[in-house]
Amino acid sequence: MDSREKMLDQLGKEPGDQGKSSDSSATTATKKNNEGKMTASKNPTSPESSGVAVAGQAMELGRGLDIGTANIICAVQDGNGEISVKSERNAFLDIQADVHSKGMLTKLKVPYVVHENKLIVIGDSAFELANIFNRPTRRPMHDGLISPAEVDALPMIRLIIEKTLGQPQEKGEYVYFSVPAESIDCDNNIVYHQGLFEGMLAKMDYTPRTINEGHAVVFAELAESDFTGIGISCGGGMFNVCVSWKTIPTLSFSISRGGDWIDKNVAEVLGIPTSRATFIKESGINITAPKNREEEAVSIYYRNLISYTLDNVKRQFESSNGMPNFSSPVPVVFAGGTSKIGGFDELVQQEFKKIDFPIPVSRVFVADEPLHSVARGCLVAAAIGE
Ligand SMILES: Nc1ncnc2c1ncn2[C@@H]1O[C@H](COP(=O)(O)OP(=O)(O)O)[C@@H](O)[C@H]1O
Ligand SMILES: [Mg+2]
Repeated sequence: MDSREKMLDQLGKEPGDQGKSSDSSATTATKKNNEGKMTASKNPTSPESSGVAVAGQAMELGRGLDIGTANIICAVQDGNGEISVKSERNAFLDIQADVHSKGMLTKLKVPYVVHENKLIVIGDSAFELANIFNRPTRRPMHDGLISPAEVDALPMIRLIIEKTLGQPQEKGEYVYFSVPAESIDCDNNIVYHQGLFEGMLAKMDYTPRTINEGHAVVFAELAESDFTGIGISCGGGMFNVCVSWKTIPTLSFSISRGGDWIDKNVAEVLGIPTSRATFIKESGINITAPKNREEEAVSIYYRNLISYTLDNVKRQFESSNGMPNFSSPVPVVFAGGTSKIGGFDELVQQEFKKIDFPIPVSRVFVADEPLHSVARGCLVAAAIGE
């Protein structure tokens, strides 16, 4: 039973207490909790929220943090070299702070915080709750960057980061966090985005360092080729590409299309809600063998996105000066949630054959754990102090 099913199960067992709520008692309870600050609910069955490190367990210093449009993911390493990863959806829901809503959240065992007289549910719980009630979540980021349209973006994203990253083991512990590269097809203001997170992490007593997202993929996946090759992070908001030569990023750029772009287009052509398009895409389909009109649409946009990406790698390569001479063939690795779809690998191979790539390529592959690759790469960067 997944956590969404568990929630539904809870609701089924204990029917809601609609109509019984009294606003005045809700306000009193909220004030007790609130006191002008955000307060975590004391739900005894809620998952621990102090971050990745398990109490009493020795962790290496230095953490990797992938700040993505869809997911925020933290990687740490214990004394035995084992890496553990903790992730949360980069989303939140705000709910009216009345007795009924509080009762419902408690029944569902959903942790929440109180912020400006609203009950706020963050991360995976927000996503699951939104699915149950057919409500959209609010998203702090858009197209790889902090969203200018979301006024509560910063405090909410801080809560999600606190939940995944936890407290530093010692003041000033390094955290390497991923940032997108300059976009070739839209005007993305990375300076502001990067500065906001540097400030936030410093306030949490970390020493923040940035690493380009595609570069992090190289660190996670291309140790065997001496960190030489091409890393492509295929996220929700964007794709990030990095060409690396012996750990040095020689070319980095992003394109403003990713999983969300596929969802939006599939929804438009089929006349369905975007959430439905996302559901179809993530339901375990194979894009090389679409079974119906909906899957066909997903497949068409995937092919277009892969071809657009490879074409842009080629163009950027050809128009960049001072590229190193890649005398021996290099690997190309794809990671990120968008590369998780069935048949992605095969579609990439097919599109690769159609273009005349500017450098010799040894192999093209998808990372073993596509969702965790960037966070792991950030951790590698923290460990080697890149
Ligand atoms: N199994 C899956 N099949 C296809 N797409 C997936 C799957 N799982 C996640 N995704 C997509 O991956 C994207 C999120 O990937 P992620 O790497 O976490 O993005 P970001 O870096 O933007 O946070 C979303 O567009 C999501 O729909
Ligand atoms: Mg990402």
